[in-house]
Amino acid sequence: MRRVSITDVFTHPIAQKYLNRSGVSHAITVAQYAVQLAIKHDVNPDIAAKAGLLHDIGHYEWYTNGEWDYEAYRKNDIHAIKGAERAHKLLIRLGEDRKYAKEVALAILLHTDSYLPENSIDKNTLQRIVRKADEMDEEPFGKHHYRKISYEDAIKQIERLDQEIEHFLTEYRKTV
Ligand SMILES: [Fe+2]
Repeated sequence: MRRVSITDVFTHPIAQKYLNRSGVSHAITVAQYAVQLAIKHDVNPDIAAKAGLLHDIGHYEWYTNGEWDYEAYRKNDIHAIKGAERAHKLLIRLGEDRKYAKEVALAILLHTDSYLPENSIDKNTLQRIVRKADEMDEEPFGKHHYRKISYEDAIKQIERLDQEIEHFLTEYRKTV
């Protein structure tokens, strides 16, 4: 039995605050892709889902006069650093296993290298999965951050994700 479900994470007020800022629809889609990739590559899908869902919660407001300022974003972005810390704090507050919380935080820290020298870090499978899942949902000009989804639909998809993870872990618990 997992200590913390994806629903627990998603419905927490801190997650809601930051997910609404960076895009609920994008976060859920990345979590879904991360679960598919994790199952395929023999990685724990629960950790992948949490990292996928929370990967962008470190974003600050990046608008200039109501417009996305891509240049300023590329130059000054540290969302992966902030996100890793926020996700870790949130998961620990919810009672998550410390080892899992650290793995999620590291995958978030390394999901982009927009702030790192190129190819400077050897990533593990979980970290590569979260990055790939994010890229799979990327749209030009950061449009994926603005796609809308109702709270009801979001909850339905999150609960489905929890069932999928629970099912997988019950069937294959010994292998991950
Ligand atoms: Fe993203």
